[in-house]
Amino acid sequence: MIVFLVGFMGCGKSTKAKQLANLLECPVIDIDAVIVEQQEMSIADYFAANGEGAFRQLENEMLKSFDYPETCVVATGGGLPCFLDNMEWMNENGVTVYLEMTPPQLVSRLHNREKRPLIKGMDDEQLLAFIIDKLEERNVFYRQSKVVINSFDLDAKALLEELETLT
Ligand code: S3P
Repeated sequence: MIVFLVGFMGCGKSTKAKQLANLLECPVIDIDAVIVEQQEMSIADYFAANGEGAFRQLENEMLKSFDYPETCVVATGGGLPCFLDNMEWMNENGVTVYLEMTPPQLVSRLHNREKRPLIKGMDDEQLLAFIIDKLEERNVFYRQSKVVINSFDLDAKALLEELETLT
């Protein structure tokens, strides 16, 4: 089984992916980390050099061409499920989990804004407005996930139990 964690920047996809993979004793794949490794540059530098469109294409290709182990947990970038048929593809190839958080919860967790090109330089108020706006668009995709769960206080064990009820 491949578990795809989706959700907005700051919802804890990378951390939860590691914790869940630990419990399942399986590998964890962080799509953005794979891109950083392959391109030998940060996401922010990639955006600056090639633009957002090129990044979306690259994420899309990476998602679909990665050689996934039979069982693994995949952390996706926040925009990946909302591009082309990526959400559909993940639903066909694994179990998708939307780690949902409210906009204020996301603001309170997004400290490292400089690393993230889309929210670079924003103060709390600007970020809140940005998130409310973007989530309206993105929730259409995120909510196509098999499991939708609030992840603010979510413990990886509870997430695993939720996944076990699916089979
Ligand atoms: C993005 C989220 C980032 C990264 C890029 C764009 C987005 O990933 O892919 O900065 O569009 O939401 P995280 O969700 O892991 O921060």
